[in-house]
Amino acid sequence: MAFEKAKRLQVLPPYLFAEIDRKKKAAIAAGRPILNLGIGDPDRPTPQFIVDALAKFANDPKTHQYALDEGDPGLRQAIATWFKGRFGVELDPKREILPTIGSKEAIAHFPLAVCNPGDVVLVPEPGYPPYRSSSIFAGAEPHLMPLLEKNNFLPDLAAIPAAVLKKAKLIFVNYPNNPTSACASREFYVELVAFAKKHDLIIASDAAYTEVFYDEADRPLSLLEIPGARDVTIEFHSFSKPFNMTGWRLGWACGNADLVAALQQIKSNVDSGVFTAIQRVGITALEGSDRPEIRDLRHMYKERRDRLVAGLRSVGLEPNEPHATFYVWVKCPAGYSSVALASLLLEKCDIVCTPGVGFGPSGDGYIRFALTVEPAKIDEAIARIAKLGLKK
Ligand SMILES: Cc1ncc(COP(=O)(O)O)c(C=O)c1O
Repeated sequence: MAFEKAKRLQVLPPYLFAEIDRKKKAAIAAGRPILNLGIGDPDRPTPQFIVDALAKFANDPKTHQYALDEGDPGLRQAIATWFKGRFGVELDPKREILPTIGSKEAIAHFPLAVCNPGDVVLVPEPGYPPYRSSSIFAGAEPHLMPLLEKNNFLPDLAAIPAAVLKKAKLIFVNYPNNPTSACASREFYVELVAFAKKHDLIIASDAAYTEVFYDEADRPLSLLEIPGARDVTIEFHSFSKPFNMTGWRLGWACGNADLVAALQQIKSNVDSGVFTAIQRVGITALEGSDRPEIRDLRHMYKERRDRLVAGLRSVGLEPNEPHATFYVWVKCPAGYSSVALASLLLEKCDIVCTPGVGFGPSGDGYIRFALTVEPAKIDEAIARIAKLGLKK
């Protein structure tokens, strides 16, 4: 049967990696020794105490039925306790916290809860693609906010045209940021909350990487720490990256009670929650967030970061030095677009990275490496890049 895809799919931006993906698959099929630094997914397994907890909770038949729409009360309480300890912010577990099927699901559904056709959504670029596609699915119009190095990869709020602001309903922000790895300062968050209040905007804060930091002194903020933020903010958190639980699909939304309730209303029409045993595992994970196997992940990424950043500098490239996330955002040498450099690395060095343009037009001129490989592979990647002679 021939059918035409819905317009909302037809208007999504084209997939820019198709050619590189094809080359990558061909290289792997040809048995070439590929080093994959493109994957934003922790390489280490989920810690054993978390896996063991699943076995225990899955054996309790009470977890086998439909989960509650509002999420497991024990998990909501554990999130509230953890949030208070980590950010000093009190959340009402009943009204201000909602477990979700990872943070992606919540991000993708949230615009359906608050946007109407004709509304504008302010979307950072380069950025995680679902902000834009979920806005389109809700019938809203994304307005892209460039994240530029000269602004520390923060959006320039003053540059948003007044006519756009008039129609804007929602603004997405994501710090620590994928792909640039930039973190938000308290000053920026204070400015953002005042801006949102002035222009009647809802803030959707994607906080998936707040726990992937390297040094205690660099602990990222929650936007909800800012006075008044709770009036206008919903924040999305994730178990995926801090606990190596990407496949488990567990996260939460928190913040303004009305925004959380609106998201819950959408979700109760779409899904039936996360397997209760996995929600209970979430309690175990949060209660164990200070265990050495979790804290050691930070040292591991820091060591890898230091190795990769020093190595890239030694071969003439200009990486940023991330303080959070496991991404290194690297400037392309003069004359290379992000796709040209990524193709060169794949063809000549058997290295996979992500071309920045795939995250938005302002990502061109950068490539993204992920720190999700062992140090020996990082060293090998640097040795291969050195042979290209990119050094000026
Ligand atoms: C910026 C950002 N937000 C959210 C997510 C989604 O994470 P999850 O759905 O696994 O919680 C990702 C995943 O890569 C991400 O990079």
